[in-house]
Amino acid sequence: MVRIAVISSGCFGRGLFAYLWKNTNTKIEYYSRFSPSPLSIKQFLEFGRDNACEKTSYMFLRKELPVRLANTMREVNLLPDNLLSQPSIRLVQKWYMQSFVELLGYENKKPEDPQALNDFLELLIEIRNRHNDVVPTMAQGVIEYKEKFGFDPFISSNIQYFLDRFYTNRISFRMLINQHTLLFGNDTNPAHPKHIGSIDPTCNVAEVVKGNSPRCVPQRQLPHKHKSIQAVYVPSHLFHMLFELFKNSMRATVEHHENSKILPPVKAKVTLGKEDLSIKISDRGGGVPLRKIDRLFNYMYSTAPTPSLEPSSTVPLAGFGYGLPISRLYARYFQGDLKLYSMEGVGTDAVIYLKALSSESFERLPVFNKSAWRHYQTSPEADDWSNPSKEPRDTSKSSYKAKR
Ligand SMILES: Nc1ncnc2c1ncn2[C@@H]1O[C@H](COP(=O)(O)OP(=O)(O)OP(=O)(O)O)[C@@H](O)[C@H]1O
Ligand SMILES: [Mg+2]
Repeated sequence: MVRIAVISSGCFGRGLFAYLWKNTNTKIEYYSRFSPSPLSIKQFLEFGRDNACEKTSYMFLRKELPVRLANTMREVNLLPDNLLSQPSIRLVQKWYMQSFVELLGYENKKPEDPQALNDFLELLIEIRNRHNDVVPTMAQGVIEYKEKFGFDPFISSNIQYFLDRFYTNRISFRMLINQHTLLFGNDTNPAHPKHIGSIDPTCNVAEVVKGNSPRCVPQRQLPHKHKSIQAVYVPSHLFHMLFELFKNSMRATVEHHENSKILPPVKAKVTLGKEDLSIKISDRGGGVPLRKIDRLFNYMYSTAPTPSLEPSSTVPLAGFGYGLPISRLYARYFQGDLKLYSMEGVGTDAVIYLKALSSESFERLPVFNKSAWRHYQTSPEADDWSNPSKEPRDTSKSSYKAKR
């Protein structure tokens, strides 16, 4: 049985409410049995470029969107009850439930009906707006939980696993919606007539890098000297990652050199190989000790007491400590990655890896299945490496430690 915590019975009769509830749960189970179908940037591009057909897109999305929603909704329910019962998490669940039910309204509407196509497009815009604040609201839920129940490493690792998947699902969901609304709606962007939906087929990476930082010194290493490095990519994703990395680098630089008159520059290097397009942002902001690097990507460590939640704020998320983890998800979404290499006392290199070929940039999507389910069930096991700080050696007794 799928547990959906929030649905109001106020406006329905009891019988009708029970019917809708049961029916929706059945539908969630049904759609969650399908795996999401990952698309490559090349496929997005080719579909959008070659006389994109709204009917085809409609028929794909009216199934694919409920599939992706259902997969993630099933997984939400594996979170611990104490977390699920936090008001912010319940609110997010309500949004998902509502969007799922609204999409089901198109299960039987024929693509030949122009009204259905129009209404569907309007609905996608509504859904996108409804889900604008999912990330800060989930972050708020984690804070609510942490304030009440404290930090638990087992819960934290489940939350980490879950949020990485949940936010990736959301990135993918928005990608699909944006492609449809940009290709077939009225919100095309006249400033970028060459873009195919949200994809720039000739995204000049160095330009996006420069656009992000007034103090950056861009450097290029090119296989062909006079060509700028171009990627087929979603510029808004690239912008998001670079914005977050520059923000971090500049902050570290300013804080590490607070008493000096001259600040060392933040440098950027873009390189293109056969497989990878790599972007390195280097600062001399004092770095981070190795022990803490993994933690910088951890949601539960990160969430500090709340910055004010401004609804539908247009600036990238600030203050939750989600800059790095979410940027890494953007990079991984199309099979890339984001890594930090730091030398404590000196500075940090952050590298974004993207696939050089759009045919290899397939969406990387979470699938709700047995092995995902298992992740939430396994309890923490005994450490299988020695841990000197916890168990000081007592030489008077046997040197064999009892196994925990
Ligand atoms: N280039 C860097 N040099 C030194 N420390 C860094 C650097 N980048 C990140 N950090 C450390 O990692 C932490 C986490 O970074 P992250 O971008 O995820 O969150 P944040 O910057 O704290 O908050 P937000 O990005 O949400 O405004 C930072 O608070 C900082 O301590
Ligand atoms: Mg940051």
